[in-house]
Amino acid sequence: MAPETPGPGNQTQETLSNLLQEKRRFAPPAELAAAANVTAETYAEAAEDRLAFWERAADRLTWAQRWDTTLEWNPPFAKWFIGGKLNVAYNCVDRHVEAGRGDVIAYHWEGEPDGDSRTLTYGDLQREVSKAANALIELGVAKGDRVAIYMPMIPELPIAMLACARIGAVHSVVFGGFSASALQNRIDDADAKIVITADGGYRRGAPSALKPTVDEAVAACPQVEHVLVVRRTGQEVAQTAKDVWWHDLVERQSDQHDPQPHDAEDPLFILYTSGTTGNPKGILHTSGGYLTQTAWTHDAVFDLKPEQDIYWCTADIGWVTGHSYIVYGPLANGATSVIYEGTPDTPHRGRFWEIVQKYKISILYTAPTAIRTFMKWGDDIPAKFDLTSLRVLGSVGEPINPEAYVWYREHIGGDRCPVVDTWWQTETGAIMISPLPGVTAGKPGAAMRPLPGIDADVVDDQGNSVPDGGGGFLAIREPWPAMLRTIWGDDQRYIDTYWSRWEGIYFPGDGAKRDEDGDLWLLGRVDDVMLVSGHNISTTEVESALVSHPKVAEAAVVGATDPVTGQAIVAFTILRGNAEEGDDIAAELRAHVAKALGPIAKPRQILVVPELPKTRSGKIMRRLLRDVAENRSLGDVTTLTDSSVMNLISEQLPSAKSDD
Ligand code: WT7
Repeated sequence: MAPETPGPGNQTQETLSNLLQEKRRFAPPAELAAAANVTAETYAEAAEDRLAFWERAADRLTWAQRWDTTLEWNPPFAKWFIGGKLNVAYNCVDRHVEAGRGDVIAYHWEGEPDGDSRTLTYGDLQREVSKAANALIELGVAKGDRVAIYMPMIPELPIAMLACARIGAVHSVVFGGFSASALQNRIDDADAKIVITADGGYRRGAPSALKPTVDEAVAACPQVEHVLVVRRTGQEVAQTAKDVWWHDLVERQSDQHDPQPHDAEDPLFILYTSGTTGNPKGILHTSGGYLTQTAWTHDAVFDLKPEQDIYWCTADIGWVTGHSYIVYGPLANGATSVIYEGTPDTPHRGRFWEIVQKYKISILYTAPTAIRTFMKWGDDIPAKFDLTSLRVLGSVGEPINPEAYVWYREHIGGDRCPVVDTWWQTETGAIMISPLPGVTAGKPGAAMRPLPGIDADVVDDQGNSVPDGGGGFLAIREPWPAMLRTIWGDDQRYIDTYWSRWEGIYFPGDGAKRDEDGDLWLLGRVDDVMLVSGHNISTTEVESALVSHPKVAEAAVVGATDPVTGQAIVAFTILRGNAEEGDDIAAELRAHVAKALGPIAKPRQILVVPELPKTRSGKIMRRLLRDVAENRSLGDVTTLTDSSVMNLISEQLPSAKSDD
């Protein structure tokens, strides 16, 4: 690894030493183990014949035509279930209705304003998805066309996604917190011809507009033919010639639509994820393999019992967690889920626990950043609510530190619920490494073992397995059904990013350790992507945004450990001569980054420095900046062009605390 990349350096080593002290184990509850969907034998069965294992998983779906070849592997290009035909929306909706489960609730939707809720049965969903599919057809959307979706967490969001899937259009959901330029960039990259949005959504107790952002983005995207707008908040929106109201167009459509089968390898969606270079990567997922693995893992990892469980994944549908574990996996399994529109602190800090109590949620899937926030808010808050309906707890998005895991188990799970720490990525499409709640004796902070059918390993620089007790890079040795097929429009970048470190082995970009028992611990990214509140943000994107400000000459950005968000963005900037002394430059730049990239990318801290530490070849040494940002003593500075630079930088930094 290049010396200027962070891990497994400072950050990962810290995680490691923390984890090493962890001796606690939590055996599966006897009752859960006795009735578990998946038992220990499954590991052996899958290891014996991996493809036969995935064939059985695919047989859980309804195929219009069964596949003839399970896997075609021309590294690094995989095709799964070749010759198979299915309709993803039919699998998620219609088949449950046909099986007599039309009155089963698919979604309990809870709006942020108090008392604002909606219930959709599978029958309702079938009618709504059919209407939306007919509406898209009327707008001229055909199979293979791309549809950008920029929406709040309202039922029309999964309805829009399923409507695309139904007609074979490819959705590209863009998280509703992204800025106009980020949205425009994603609309352009996928060449989307339709945008689906809403006037706004409720956020922290007030309507938060989305439509103006879409207008700004679409003004620069001539290829967009129509903008379909859901009225959610009722706030005033400017009308453009491209706008069509959802309630005008969709409501008058027939609620019948005959779903045609699509090829297993037909594209289902594109989802953009930040890379180490500024331009986001359009991760392409296809149909049959993706649905097979999301459905199987949702059933296995959460031990889903569709007739009894009420399942809630708190992620935003704009991220992959929402795609796979709010929409496709749960619906394919006929689950009853909760969708919540708002934030955990509105109108009060017990909101999540009130929702658990109200719907008697039995499976909860959330992120370490949320868990750490709840810890900070205090044990007394969840203690006021009845959480006894819970039986399985999940975590995703970043390493969960043992304290947060144990707090989650005790204060939310009443010490009876297993915690499943699930490792995966936008690129993997579905969970890859996780405990199984009825099988695994979990260790706080460990993702434990690759799931059955997944061949994951911890390897060294050369791609050789490290022995038990060793650390290195996470690697995936065999293709899996939900894997990304490529980066949209850029096969070469797909090869370079994921498949060029070792021959024929997938490189996820994470550091990992295998402990003495052979269990896996994830240690964070080994490149310079920052993980803020469970979201990957590239340093380069933030740096480019900073440098686009007229007062900034140069910028270097690092992720510094933050007790709440996991990592927080700390930016070191060199100003241009035109910046006046006394300007509130930090506030100005933070606002600028928020405008350019969205609030999620806003640096916690902006430091104005006279110089940046660079290698002789001119690369910024982020490792040293991270030391400064985290108040550590400086590491090796001998490769610096000018080692006195670090003293100059340290002097600018009285303490690394938030200016928020
Ligand atoms: C990166 C993927 C998977 C959906 C949410 C994020 C980190 C994710 C874990 C975990 C340690 C984790 C990794 C991964 N990550 N889950 N359980 N333990 N790290 O999707 O934005 O594509 O990010 O999130 O670094 O590579 P994403």
